[in-house]
Amino acid sequence: MEKHNTLEHAMALDRDDLLAPFRERFVIKDPSLIYLDGNSLGRLPLLTGEDMERAIREQWGENLIRSWNEHWYTQSERLGKKIARIIGAHPDEVIVSDSTSVNLYKLAYGALKLMNGRREIISDDMNFPSDLYIMQGLIKQLGAKHNLRLLKSPDGISSDISELSRMLNRNTALITLSHVAYKSSYLYDMEQVTRLAHQHDALVLWDLSHSVGVVPVNLNSAGADLAVGCTYKYLNGGPGSPAFLFVRRELQEQLENPIQGWFGERNPFEFELNYREPTGIRKFLTGTPPVISQSGLESAMEIILEAGMEAIRQKSVAQSEYLLSLVRQYLSGIGIREGSPELSERRGSHISLKHEEAYRICKALADPGVGDGVVIPDFREPNNIRLGISPLYTSYEEIYRAIMQLTEIITEKLYENYPNTRDQVT
Ligand SMILES: Cc1ncc(COP(=O)(O)O)c(C=O)c1O
Repeated sequence: MEKHNTLEHAMALDRDDLLAPFRERFVIKDPSLIYLDGNSLGRLPLLTGEDMERAIREQWGENLIRSWNEHWYTQSERLGKKIARIIGAHPDEVIVSDSTSVNLYKLAYGALKLMNGRREIISDDMNFPSDLYIMQGLIKQLGAKHNLRLLKSPDGISSDISELSRMLNRNTALITLSHVAYKSSYLYDMEQVTRLAHQHDALVLWDLSHSVGVVPVNLNSAGADLAVGCTYKYLNGGPGSPAFLFVRRELQEQLENPIQGWFGERNPFEFELNYREPTGIRKFLTGTPPVISQSGLESAMEIILEAGMEAIRQKSVAQSEYLLSLVRQYLSGIGIREGSPELSERRGSHISLKHEEAYRICKALADPGVGDGVVIPDFREPNNIRLGISPLYTSYEEIYRAIMQLTEIITEKLYENYPNTRDQVT
């Protein structure tokens, strides 16, 4: 056995891990539960629970409507400024609002109107379906004059940038891509794609949902135009926590918000009958924000800023490489194929493993009656077991134990004890 692939070695790696103390900032009721799904829903930070409790009991319960002036009215911008520090943007370029899908709609609409005359939108066949649905709907609403072209991945894992380059032309209005692909974890070179787009005077709209908080993003230095992202994955904002949007300063005045509600008006409390556009990022708001949900974001973001994106990325890469080394040692030749890019520079922070029985394997992993306890991954159709690494709370020991459990389930065919009927949420 290779020396580095023992439980003792995993524990030694944890002892040397400078980010290990951050695990204590999260609610971990059952330390034996191995949670490898922070790429879908991050764990609850201790302070987030306290922030939400305060928002409910003090700000709402005691202070009532006075809290709008004292805390809530500026919350979306305040949180936007914090996210801006995480994604390398100016503080006045980011705001928290709505869901990722709605924000994508708003910005794509604005971009297509701005690029009036150009009729092509480019995305890829690895993108999150909601992003494609939004484009398809938008095309319908804009009179079916646009065309959505999908860059095809050669292997379902990575992207061919030279092919993307060939697809660009004088009719390209917008490229919209997930920075990290939700299934394979492929990580686009943001700077390269932005440069290509700008060479053709096209705009790029990034979905940062799978990179924000775990992959260093520097929107300003990449020259990025537009971006959206969610806060419930690596930002640990909680289920349904609102998303954010980024609009480059120079584009803010030019871009139109298709849903111009009162929160995006110059001064909502003057109750003017005719909409007046404000200057700046507030213009991309629409209605009353989900205040309680947003309250949980303040501390969640502080943890990321305190740990630092470089340290988080360093650990994410080290843990991913560690996981892959275990996979190669224990799982090769028994029906498992790697479903993520080999090069860490081209990978986000989750690893996909492919197996024809992936769904039932995920069921077996999550069954407390199997092996040493519960392992929570997630499953993505048709055959992906996604293992998410959240460096702020994932330990090397957990990775080791999860792979050992996976090995046992596959070699002993324990997955055969589970039905193949899909749960509503996988
Ligand atoms: C890459 C990506 N984009 C968009 C979405 C949809 O986000 P929302 O439900 O906030 O609209 C998700 C959800 O998981 C996602 O992973």
